[in-house]
Amino acid sequence: CFSPALYQVYHDPESVVVVVDIFRATTTMAAAFRNGVRTIRPVATIEEAQTYKAEGWLVGAERNVKKCDFADFGNSPFDYTPEKISGHDVVFTTTNGTKAITVAKDAYRVITGAFVNLKAVADYCLLHQHNVVVLCSGWQDKINIEDTTFGGALVDLLVKSGQYVPGSDAALIARDMWNAHKDDLLSYMKETDHMARLVAKHLEDAVPYCLIPDSVSYVPELEVQENILILH
Ligand code: MLT
Repeated sequence: CFSPALYQVYHDPESVVVVVDIFRATTTMAAAFRNGVRTIRPVATIEEAQTYKAEGWLVGAERNVKKCDFADFGNSPFDYTPEKISGHDVVFTTTNGTKAITVAKDAYRVITGAFVNLKAVADYCLLHQHNVVVLCSGWQDKINIEDTTFGGALVDLLVKSGQYVPGSDAALIARDMWNAHKDDLLSYMKETDHMARLVAKHLEDAVPYCLIPDSVSYVPELEVQENILILH
């Protein structure tokens, strides 16, 4: 599913939904769990995040790639160091990634994926043996290269396991993108819209980290408790 705007088309209530926002929300979430965060509450709006902040919560908030002034952290994986977050709960809102989680919340399972936890995400899917929908966060409902390429990497791993087949042309398109560019992802990503956004704000430092596979073995999984979304 190339964009949250297409989610109803690919929606399957019995599927595992892998929400992906390579630059940078789901990479940042994986890094935060690796560094010991206890839970992350994704919220869709700035107002919700501000309410949590006023109640004393640690808050990560980003809009249009920049950290929001009221927040403790922005949306760089390097913000979420063990010293700052280990053992803590964090509320998180980003322009597209946390919105995509909200869109998918009713699926059989919702997890977040990125290159940094690619293998762990594939193993999770193989364990659950349900259909898999990769929900690309994109940018304001538009398709993007980085999330789609990750989708292709996951399709490739799952198909090579012998336990999955590509379920749609979308999966094949994504896999073709991955296979065409997997040997030099960074050069490919330099052409993307989001790279230009990050460079314009001098926030491209985390891009190489976002593209290195398997530095994280954790898979954040969503739980919904009385309408509150909690990743753990
Ligand atoms: C988003 O949610 O749109 C992104 O993660 C933007 C960013 O790079 O901060």
